[in-house]
This record gives sequence, structure tokens and C-alpha cells, in this order.
Amino acid sequence: MKKINIGLIGWGNIGTGVIKLLAQNEELLTRKLGAKLVLKKVADINITTPRAVKIKKNLQTTNAREIINDPSISIVIELMGGYEPARTFVLEAMARGKQVVTANKALLATHGNEIFLAAQKMGVNIGFEASVGGTIPIIKTLKESLVANNINSIYGIMNGTANFILTKMTDEGKMFSVVLKEAQQLGFAEADPTFDIEGIDTAHKMAITMSLAYGAKVNLADIYREGISKISSEDVTFARELGYRIKLLAIAILKKNGIVESRIHPTMIPSGHLLANVNRNYNAFYFEGDASGPVFLYGQGAGMMPTASAVMSDVIDIAHNLITGVSDRVPPRAINESSMQKIKLLPMEEIETKYYFRFSAVDRPGILSKIAGILGENNISIATVIQKARQEESAVPVVMTTYKAKEKNVQKALKKIDKLDIVQDKTVLIRIEDELA
Ligand code: HSE
Repeated sequence: MKKINIGLIGWGNIGTGVIKLLAQNEELLTRKLGAKLVLKKVADINITTPRAVKIKKNLQTTNAREIINDPSISIVIELMGGYEPARTFVLEAMARGKQVVTANKALLATHGNEIFLAAQKMGVNIGFEASVGGTIPIIKTLKESLVANNINSIYGIMNGTANFILTKMTDEGKMFSVVLKEAQQLGFAEADPTFDIEGIDTAHKMAITMSLAYGAKVNLADIYREGISKISSEDVTFARELGYRIKLLAIAILKKNGIVESRIHPTMIPSGHLLANVNRNYNAFYFEGDASGPVFLYGQGAGMMPTASAVMSDVIDIAHNLITGVSDRVPPRAINESSMQKIKLLPMEEIETKYYFRFSAVDRPGILSKIAGILGENNISIATVIQKARQEESAVPVVMTTYKAKEKNVQKALKKIDKLDIVQDKTVLIRIEDELA
């Protein structure tokens, strides 16, 4: 029986999952593939820390180049994360004609153009299913299943840690900092948790998703991004009162002339919507294709075995190509790299949506009319107002939701309102999306 040798660079949580899955489902994988996958070498800078899976000493190395330079290894799995030396290792492996599988979203969101072009030039496959949505088949869905569609919209909950935090704040009334610690202990947070809570990890995944959906290069820094670190229990409670739940959403909407509106921010969505009920560390992706209509994908966006499942789907896919002598049957981003355009993004100040504002105002006569006056001057129409009972001399929250308004006008109005002497703290703004299909 044919053997296909694999080298694994990065023996962390996901690497451990891949080793486990290879062993646990060995018979099934061999039967389905008609060939045997052999783990030839595992590289990590640290091979002494105890792992949840044991491998023979002679398979272990601290030198990744023992994998990259081994002519018998056909598939290199990069699970070390980070930019360097991951980028160099991936490029070197491809330059030696090796197939690559990676889960490294930060790397692909930042250096994807260089890496995908190198893969095309070398005629090698690069699999990256695990880079977006963990176990959920997002890459294959966009690359193959929905390839005939204009993707009219994308709404995604793409970070398990942020979703876990928001779920616990909403359902258990816990504070942000307490839940963050719980999430870190569960092991799906990034090494630097600001990547999770400030939407950076979501932006990495969104840049990759959009480049596939629109066949266009996306500059990470051009995607508008806000995280969840400023969401308070108070806003979570008001959201509930208004019939919403707060989610960190990644949004892309295809406008006229191929322009895409794209933004990542905490969003209030109707509590009955499917996306509002994606809880804990789960991820979900809602795509609307012009031919397909809505497609909803849900699952574990992180974690050892769910992510290992996605890594192995790429390994098997590539192994089939190796067995049949086919390479790059479908280009990595579903399009010849030379046909990739640069995405045209709608400037953030031009977007129009509904808004939730929480003003911290001193409870005196005339406050509401002052705030409402400034909103009116800026063409912002108020939909609802909630004001809680007065507490002696302290600021009271005044909550308003609006009809659709222009971001540019909202920013201008809030700047003026926050300068009023009756307003004690910076106004909280959360965008509302309540017209989701
Ligand atoms: N830190 C990420 C998350 C891991 O919480 O979703 C998966 O990319």
C-alpha cells in the first residue's frame, strides 16, 4: 500500500490533536484514502514539556528544517502559529515542492498574497481549512460549494473566546474580567487574549473569508474593527430589555459596483435570530449567495480535536491529489492568483445602520431635549428612549435607539453631545442589525 509521509511543525494543542486523530482513526483514514499516512517527524522548539499524546523519541526534533529538507516528506503541516519563522518555513517547504497545510490565520491574513502566489508558482497545494472557523468547513464552502455565487452578505461569529465571554455576561450576569479568565483556562483563547477581545483574531479570519468570497486581496488594516472590552453588564442588560443579544459580528455586505461594506464590532441582534443563539465558544457563519440564498454553518471554532479535524481534511484532500497525480485542481482561493483584484471597501463613515446609545447624563430638566436636539440636527431619528429613575445627584443612564443613520453623522453628533456639561462619561455606542434574514 502506498505511504504518504507527513511532517508536523508545532506540537501545541492542535498539533497534539492531529497526532491523536491520526492514531485514533488510522484504520478509517487508511481505508478511505487507500493509502497510509505516516507521521515521519514532529518539530517543536520545546519537546520536553509533557504532552497529552506520546510519540517515539526518534520522531521528535527541535529543528524544523529536518522536516523541510527531508525529501521523503510530502506534506508539511504548520501549526506553530505567529508570523516568523512560520512564514519562512512555509515558503521554504513549498520551494522544495512540498504540500503545505496550515491553521495559521494571522500568517495568511498578513502574508497570504505572497504565500498563495508562491504555492501557485510551485504548483503545490496549500490547505488552510483550520484557519477560519475551526472545524466548520468555511474554506471549502466558499472555494467550491458557493463558487458560482456573488456573496451578497456575510455575518460571522468568528471568535470563540469573545462569544464565550459575551454569552456568560448575558446569561449569568458575570463581569467581563471574570469570564475572560474562565475562557483562558478552557484553552481556546489566543496566546495574547487581546487578539480575541479586540477583534484582531476575527479580523484575520474575516480577511481570509472575504478574499475567498470576493476573489480579491484584502488589506487587514482596512477592515473597520472594534472589540468587546468596553461592553459592560449594563449594556448587556439594556440589550435584553430591548429584545437583543450582543455578539461580536464580522459583517460584509456587497454593495453596488462591487464595493464591499465590511466591519467588525459588537452588534445588537434580535434575540430570536439564529446568530443570537450561537452561544459559548461556538462559531457561526451566515452567507447569502445571489443564487444559493442563505447558508448557515455552525460548529466549534476552536479547540484541539475540532481544529485537528479541519487540518486532517486538508491532509486527506492533498493526499488524494498526490495519489492521483493532480495538483492544485482548485486554486487555493478559488481563482488564479493573477486574477485577484484589490477589494474596494466602503469607508466606515459612509455606512448606514441603526444605533444604540447609552448617555451618562446628570438628571436635570431639559437634558433629553438637548440630546435629542443634537441628534435631530444631524439627521438622526430616535426610535426608542429608556431612562431609569433618578438617583440623587449621580448620573443616570439615558438609552436611545435610532432608525437608520449615517455613521459620519452619528460620530459628529456624539462628539458634540459628549462635550455637554450635563454628560459625565463618553457615550456608549453599539450598532444594531435587526434586518438580518
Ligand atoms: N482564539 C480563537 C478563538 C481560537 O477563541 O476562537 C481559534 O481561532
